[in-house]
Amino acid sequence: MKDIILNNLKQYGQEHLLTFWDSLSHSEQQELIDQIQSIDFALIANLYQHRNTPAESLTLADQASDPPSYKFSTVTDPTPCQSQKPIAVQEAVTAGEEMLRQGKVGVILVAGGQGTRLGFPHPKGMYPIAPVSEATLFQFHFEKVLATSQQYGYQIPYCIMTSPATHHETVDFLEQKNYFGLRKEDVFIFCQGTMPAVSLETGQVLLNSKNSIALSPDGHGGMLAAIARKNGNGISVLDCLRQRGIEYLFYNQVDNPLVRICSPEFLGYHLLSGSELTSQVIRKRFPTDKVGNIVEVNGRLYMIEYSDLPEEVARKTNSDGSLKIWAGSIAVHIFNTTLLEQNSKITTALPFHIARKKVPFVDLQSGEQIKPDKENAIKFERFIFDLLPSAKNAVVVEVDPPNHYAPLKNATGSSSDSPETVKRDLIAMYADWLNKAGAVVVADTPIEISPLFADSPEKIKQKIEKGTVFNKPTYLKN
Ligand code: UTP
Repeated sequence: MKDIILNNLKQYGQEHLLTFWDSLSHSEQQELIDQIQSIDFALIANLYQHRNTPAESLTLADQASDPPSYKFSTVTDPTPCQSQKPIAVQEAVTAGEEMLRQGKVGVILVAGGQGTRLGFPHPKGMYPIAPVSEATLFQFHFEKVLATSQQYGYQIPYCIMTSPATHHETVDFLEQKNYFGLRKEDVFIFCQGTMPAVSLETGQVLLNSKNSIALSPDGHGGMLAAIARKNGNGISVLDCLRQRGIEYLFYNQVDNPLVRICSPEFLGYHLLSGSELTSQVIRKRFPTDKVGNIVEVNGRLYMIEYSDLPEEVARKTNSDGSLKIWAGSIAVHIFNTTLLEQNSKITTALPFHIARKKVPFVDLQSGEQIKPDKENAIKFERFIFDLLPSAKNAVVVEVDPPNHYAPLKNATGSSSDSPETVKRDLIAMYADWLNKAGAVVVADTPIEISPLFADSPEKIKQKIEKGTVFNKPTYLKN
């Protein structure tokens, strides 16, 4: 067995992976074989060889212009949107509600990331982020899906993507919480793939221990392959969605508790514009704002990462002084399932991006694990937004951060995207909703509203008496 594997590895200069073979137990050898067999070494060699080829987006930046867009009704910025086909808010809401009433919308949550910046020793979805109840990120998302299911009268299929780094704990946690009220048969938990880290200097795949390879999740773009992968019964998540008549998949990340899952207005812009992929964006505050930029080039939309956008291009303005490249992605999308199906059959539909990282590795001489203090490795990841150029009529919808976006990325004490800033933004949004509904919220009062209680000022109005005063920590729930 060893010889067969060794010969195969030699073709790619990766025979060092068996350095410790003779000292391993039988089961350890088997673990290592399983990992080796899961790796496409020809692909790794090719990616490493092209590691210094500039990203396609760099060559696109010069031709980039602003994408076709719609404005969500809560946006107050007056810059006009660029849609060729105007759609009134009410028209969009009506169309979106119809999509939901017809039971055509499913939801996917990507929760496979390692959350290294947050430094929480569990999957990020288990982080207790709610300002009063300490509900977790998962609870927020599940309650929103449950509330939508109840409102529109169908069991929304809820797809949860995990990775080997988060899978078992996520499964146990959700089971223990009874899926926060959703039925188990409507929750589809599936695990994304991994990619090995390679040495920056040599391209050799790194060992994480004597019998295991340094593997990490293959990026949120890993979702495309993972939802099409057949399980033991020969059925994929996409097959299940098709069987249920799902035509649209709402996508969000685990870290943003403000996301409006399945907002009818957002769904309506997608449907009525004939888009196959619609993304929510926020208006950049200044040219070099650190968000991914959605742009149009030759009638197709692309995402250019902020690090790939030359400053002179970022500074270009329209005749009214507004930024030409203004649309910062917040990673909330809606996909036509047909777009996902077609592209999942094309192995190269999403390119791999390379990231230079510090990755612990086993020294082949001493067998000791080394924790590097500078970047020593390359990781390969796919990003789901790279599907944009494949989508017909892709559009963006501008949303306002106070009502849509407060991601949890960084550890306590950081000045942005930290537990403190997310809680502050949640409280501010709920207080604003209550004030709009005619209540009085005394400044700095922690307020929280369960998605099952209300998801808008209009719904709160039906449940709270005008003039009600909130002056102590309050959690409104059913
Ligand atoms: P981030 O890019 O913020 O990464 O993921 P992260 O792993 O959560 O955090 P850091 O960078 O290590 O600090 C954005 C979203 O994409 C998901 C994450 O779970 C999060 O919802 N994601 C990321 C995956 O599902 N799989 C991946 O391989 C990477």
